[in-house]
Amino acid sequence: MCGIAGYVGPRPAVEVVFDQLKRLEYRGYDSAGVAFPHEGRIGILKRAGRLSGLASLIEEQHPPEVPVAIAHSRWATHGAPTDLNAHPHYDQDGTIALIHNGIIENYLELKAELARHGHTFQSETDSEVAAHVIGEAHKSGLSLFEAVRTSLPKFKGAFAFVVVSTIEPDRIVCARNASPLVVGLGEGENMLASDVPALIPYTRQVWSMPEETVAELTRETVRAVDKNNRNVPIETMTIDWDVESAEKGGYPHFMLKEIHEQPDVARSCLAGRLSEDNRVSLEGVFSDHVWQEIDRVNIIACGTAYHAGLMGKHLFERMLRLPTDVFYSSEFRYGDPLLSDRSLAIFISQSGETADSLAALRLCKARRIRTLGIVNVVGSAIARECDKVIYTQAGPEISVASTKAYTAQCLVLMLLGLWIAQQREMPGVRVTEAVHELRAWPDLAQEALTREDAIKELAVRWKDVPLVFFLGRNADAAVALEAALKLKEIAYIPTQEGPAGEMKHGPLALIEPGVLSVFGGTDSDVRDKVASNIREVQARGGHALVVTTDDDTEIHQFGDGVIRVPGGKVPFLTALMSVVPLQLLAYHMAVARGCDVDQPRNLAKSVTVE
Ligand code: G6P
Repeated sequence: MCGIAGYVGPRPAVEVVFDQLKRLEYRGYDSAGVAFPHEGRIGILKRAGRLSGLASLIEEQHPPEVPVAIAHSRWATHGAPTDLNAHPHYDQDGTIALIHNGIIENYLELKAELARHGHTFQSETDSEVAAHVIGEAHKSGLSLFEAVRTSLPKFKGAFAFVVVSTIEPDRIVCARNASPLVVGLGEGENMLASDVPALIPYTRQVWSMPEETVAELTRETVRAVDKNNRNVPIETMTIDWDVESAEKGGYPHFMLKEIHEQPDVARSCLAGRLSEDNRVSLEGVFSDHVWQEIDRVNIIACGTAYHAGLMGKHLFERMLRLPTDVFYSSEFRYGDPLLSDRSLAIFISQSGETADSLAALRLCKARRIRTLGIVNVVGSAIARECDKVIYTQAGPEISVASTKAYTAQCLVLMLLGLWIAQQREMPGVRVTEAVHELRAWPDLAQEALTREDAIKELAVRWKDVPLVFFLGRNADAAVALEAALKLKEIAYIPTQEGPAGEMKHGPLALIEPGVLSVFGGTDSDVRDKVASNIREVQARGGHALVVTTDDDTEIHQFGDGVIRVPGGKVPFLTALMSVVPLQLLAYHMAVARGCDVDQPRNLAKSVTVE
């Protein structure tokens, strides 16, 4: 999720790569740095914070005019955003410098092995370990290209690397596995970046590197091989996007881009957390005895994160039989909450800076309650102040309406639930089956996204409805709340949401011809009950849109419209899948109504005031 830039050619390379980083600024980052080979060594300038910090450093240090440079803006996943953790990283003796995007799952093993051979490390990052591994291969006599290529099988995870060396200072070598890299081809110059916007001012000829490829850039040449060392053709395309659409990856809005990022976000969130023997391994949580002691969980959050908390309650109570309450942070902090010594307070927050959540956290700390954060932004206030933290690893989220952060929060809650089941040795919880389903989730989400055209048609058909109900039972009821929030915040259509069974106790009075009700029906255990609710609505002239699974043979027939999602054996994960088309429904309704999707009126991305 970090920004990457690299340049080789006649222009002043440090200036070029800094400019390229600036063009990736919209993605968010917490530190930045550049590396450039010069006179037998590699210079590195790097600094935590905004790019202006790096700009001042460059101004102070006056780096020489050089033909080759690489640069990185970091979005922390391992280690806090500090100067030392910023990229690039040297290997053991500064022969190479490396920048990295992604996560190396087995870095602790590699680090321990290197330490046994006398290596020392300056940072807490997984990336520095990769620099040491590749540096060793290079110094054993392999070319930089071969050193990178032959080192790749040692790394597990999702990554893109970019490397420069003092031994071959005229070139850049890069490799990608899951994390994106694009190469720009110019006349007598070549360059690379994590995203197209960085390249646009310099060239429009772009080659998107395929997965598991290693490439080498010199001024005049670009060559590449696959993991079997076979040549890969450099097939360029001409980019005709303007800068703004390039920032959105060619999507018209950040929200749509982020909805489509969800399969990759899920992969990144699960990376390194599912073991080969189908168990969950979570870094950064409490030691074993704590999980035996906890008798109650309180989840505290705002907005979308609160809705993820409701999913957590459903899961923890069903799967673990662990009493769980969910609080709005603003209510919790002023509500004089009853807190048992044996409880755990979980704070869910994308930004990690939401004022009410932070205040609620401080209240728990003052009462000496154990606290655990589920946070996206590394080093944010909530992440820093919680006793323990699990990062969602969803990457920067720019659209005000949260999408990918929600799915990542729910996946982390599932991981945590399974982790607690393991620690408590609960034989009734089928961890292996759930881990299989978790592994399959990203591909199924990808499949769900291919059905966008059909959802768009439904959105256009119902774009002018005066009111939309979002209803469901069990986990579908929790998803209904999030789906309703998406619609009201970006399409400005009033919504009413909650458990389908509650309709007859009041809300049903609002049903009249023209009103739409969206029914979550992914849970086969309660489909017949949801079917009755659908008929109650239709009997009063309302329309029903039913969300169900591919294999459903019952409930789809009752809908005036149907959305199907690929499902599995774990109801929680299937219900979570249904949020993907419902995000798309809200998005396309908002677009059809001419709303400003990425900047909805009256709302802000991060609410740091009370
Ligand atoms: C704002 C945002 C929401 C977000 C909520 C909580 O209202 O618009 O998208 O869910 O804050 O933010 P947090 O960063 O704590 O998850």
